Amino acid sequence: MPSISATAPAKVILLGEHAVVYNQPAIAFPVPDVRARVAILANPPGKPGHVEITSRQVQLQTSLDVLPPEHAFQRLFTAFQRETGLKQLPAMQVTISSEIPVAAGMGSGAAVSVAMLKALGLFVGIKFSNAQLAAMAYEAEKAYHGNPSGIDNTVIACEKPVYFKKNEPITFLTLPSDFNLLIAYSGIPAQTIATVNAVRAKMEQSPVQTGAIIEQIGTLVRQARVYVEAGDVASLGRACTQNQSLLMQLGVSTPKLENLVNAAINAGALGAKLTGGGGGGNILALVNPEIQVKVMDALYQAGAERVFPATVRKTADYE
Ligand code: MEV
Repeated sequence: MPSISATAPAKVILLGEHAVVYNQPAIAFPVPDVRARVAILANPPGKPGHVEITSRQVQLQTSLDVLPPEHAFQRLFTAFQRETGLKQLPAMQVTISSEIPVAAGMGSGAAVSVAMLKALGLFVGIKFSNAQLAAMAYEAEKAYHGNPSGIDNTVIACEKPVYFKKNEPITFLTLPSDFNLLIAYSGIPAQTIATVNAVRAKMEQSPVQTGAIIEQIGTLVRQARVYVEAGDVASLGRACTQNQSLLMQLGVSTPKLENLVNAAINAGALGAKLTGGGGGGNILALVNPEIQVKVMDALYQAGAERVFPATVRKTADYE
């Protein structure tokens, strides 16, 4: 029997992670070449409502009904049934296969959610809007950490560069030229739940000092938006590196991430910073194409476990 499938991209946060949880803006890009895929096969012999979910990447093979209500997939299917009004799910096998590294700050959870929702929509004959996809995927994001800003599910559902501010309409960014990024994995999983909680604790303990760092990140992001829209990669690179020192002050960077950031800059990157939750995961480096190989080598020498180039294409290519 043919299966139905859908995909969704990874994402990188260019600037503004963590501060975005506190209502500051952030800029995020989709990474269209690295994707999560979800295939759904109708399973007529199964009882109606029986959903079998398999993911080789995280070694998961389970029925939906044995998962606790707070599990991301339960939240996702509940949101899907609420949105569609479907009382009973048809029997189905759901297979997840994702190229997006898990716990790397690249939105693997949100991408699986969006791909699954798109596939479920196709399966029952509904094409969701990006806003519907983002809203339903947000329900699953809450399972990953209690108070997500919503940036990951939004940039992934819309698959366009975004300037995102919590609870405000999304602004899509116009990119006049391509941006060349290198994304380097530190070999240590990102600790998004822990770092988000640590920032919250810091905010409670020293609200004035921590609030000031958050505000400075917000100011930087507003400036960076101008650089993005002007294609001014040199200024954007500098803003990324400044964002990194503010993230260090927030306590979400690590010596390993710092090491990678410094290696990239010393090899000629225009700027570099951790991306996503931090505590591990990835750094990104903004590079001119002619320096890309040199920076990549330097990142490997500094202990990166994997480095891949990601070109964020100019806006015209998204239409
Ligand atoms: C995680 O990709 C980004 C954080 O800002 C958390 C969030 O926005 O929900 C760290």
